[in-house]
Parts: sequence; structure tokens; C-alpha cells
Amino acid sequence: MFRFIIGIGMLLATPAIAQLKPGVGQDTVEASCGACHTTDYIRMNAPFLSAEAWKAEVAKMRAAFGSPIDDAVAAEIVQYLTTEYGPKK
Ligand code: HEC
Repeated sequence: MFRFIIGIGMLLATPAIAQLKPGVGQDTVEASCGACHTTDYIRMNAPFLSAEAWKAEVAKMRAAFGSPIDDAVAAEIVQYLTTEYGPKK
């Protein structure tokens, strides 16, 4: 819980190097999706993307841009993005 609060504090205090929200799969997403662009791409698009859209987004990163992740990792990433950045939050 304490680490969670620190994470939120850092998010608010340093938007330029803001991290993703803490959650299951966060490390995977930062490692897999931060390779080509910053994870700001995820935060900036978060308000617009539903679960299906996140799935399509991850598929596009793999098919169009060659992100080297396998199905299991992609599923974990979609799960994280939908949970932490889906439209319900
Ligand atoms: C191999 C390089 C690469 C990796 C790895 C990668 N991306 Fe991207 N991503 C791109 C490029 C290139 C663009 C810019 C596309 C454009 O300008 O239309 C982009 C753009 C985006 C955007 C902005 C919306 C869009 O469609 O242009 C989002 C959101 C995004 N990426 C999410 C992710 C996520 C989530 C992951 C992890 C699964 C990921 N990216 C991994 C190359 C990558």
C-alpha cells in the first residue's frame, strides 16, 4: 500500500517521466512496450481505448511494427491495459 502511494505521488509529481500505474503486469508492459516509444503512448491513448481496442492495439504493435512478444505475454499486457487503463476506471 505504501509503495502504491509513492507510485501515485511520483505520477503526479513528475509527469515528464511518469510511470504506468502499478498493477499486475506493469513490469511486462514497461519492458515490452517501452522498447520503441515511451509508455506515454499508452497513457495518452488510455481515455479512448476499450478492451477490444487495446487488444487490437497490441496486435498492431506486433504485426505492423514487429514487437517481439508471444501470445502469452500479449495476453498479459492486454489484461493489464484493460484493467488499469480501460474505460471503466
Ligand atoms: C517494435 C516497436 C514497437 C513496440 C515494441 C511497441 N510499439 Fe507501440 N508504436 C510503435 C510505433 C512505430 C508507433 C507509432 C505509430 C504511428 O505513428 O501511427 C506506436 C504507437 C503506439 C500507440 C499510439 C496509437 C497508435 O496506434 O499509433 C500506442 C497506444 C502503442 N503504440 C502501444 C503499444 C503497446 C501497448 C505496446 C506493447 C505491447 C507497444 N506499443 C509496443 C512501435 C512499437
